[in-house]
Amino acid sequence: MNTREMFAKAIKGGYAIPAFNFNNMEQLQAIIKASAETKSPVILQVSKGARNYANQTLLRYMAQGAVEYAKELGWEHPQICLHLDHGDSFELCKSCVDFGFSSVMIDASHLPYEENIALTKKVVDYAHQYDVTVEAELGVLAGVEDEVSSAVSHYTKPEEVVDFATRTGCDSLAISIGTSHGAYKFTPEQCTRDPKTGKLVPPPLAFDVLDAIMEQLPGFPIVLHGSSSVPQEYVDMINQYGGKLPDAVGIPEEQLRKASKSAVCKINIDSDSRLAFTAAVRKVFAEKPGEFDPRKYCGPARDLMEELYKHKIINVLGSDGKAE
Ligand code: 13P
Repeated sequence: MNTREMFAKAIKGGYAIPAFNFNNMEQLQAIIKASAETKSPVILQVSKGARNYANQTLLRYMAQGAVEYAKELGWEHPQICLHLDHGDSFELCKSCVDFGFSSVMIDASHLPYEENIALTKKVVDYAHQYDVTVEAELGVLAGVEDEVSSAVSHYTKPEEVVDFATRTGCDSLAISIGTSHGAYKFTPEQCTRDPKTGKLVPPPLAFDVLDAIMEQLPGFPIVLHGSSSVPQEYVDMINQYGGKLPDAVGIPEEQLRKASKSAVCKINIDSDSRLAFTAAVRKVFAEKPGEFDPRKYCGPARDLMEELYKHKIINVLGSDGKAE
């Protein structure tokens, strides 16, 4: 399904839909199991990098298989959207629409304002012919997400959002209010340190900018990218078993919980799942150096990711039970 109805319900109900990226079978299984068990609507995200890694045809049919798998798990009416994350050209978005995606993102946020509008509108005009919803972006997030990267962030300007949404006809808007892609969202200089634990405390999200945007566009679906929390337990596990992730820091979950209750109705989480996967695999390798059956280390990774997804759905986004 596309995102239109999902978002309308989420805004009304004061929760957010999880948008989880997937590149492989174990991630997809974990996402579907967690969503089916909690009866949460879910957005399966595929980035350009994922398409290059896993093959676009395979990913598309995996997503189709996931719907059948969800039914097998006892979820009678699965609410699953297949979405292109960070489309960077009209051709890529068109290819995903033609491939059967139900939603696409055109991320032209790095372009000058008028060019962002023109490209977004072109994608919207094409996608809407097939009832495919379109996410656009205004403002720039810092960090690295597959092919898209930026060293600095620029908050979304609330005075631009009405003009942008009206002229492009986009269905949802990704905004920049201080989230950022990856496991290193902030430099130590941008953070303070908790005197007790020595851990980094990130700067708070700019809720004043979000409020101003919501005032301009009442009831319009807002999207937050870069919303991994970088759970300390996974970072510690990775470091304990031979990894090296010093000072990795994410968005505190209570801030995402607060955002979920507003017009923010889609929250993107990718890095946390990568961390869970890596932590579980490292643990098996460290404890059982003789193990060479991938099922014996990908299996525990899948279990840990499923636990993570359920936690996000139930304790952070509040989307459990919304797709009975
Ligand atoms: P994270 O890197 O914080 O998981 O963000 C993922 C994302 O926004 C995908 O578009």
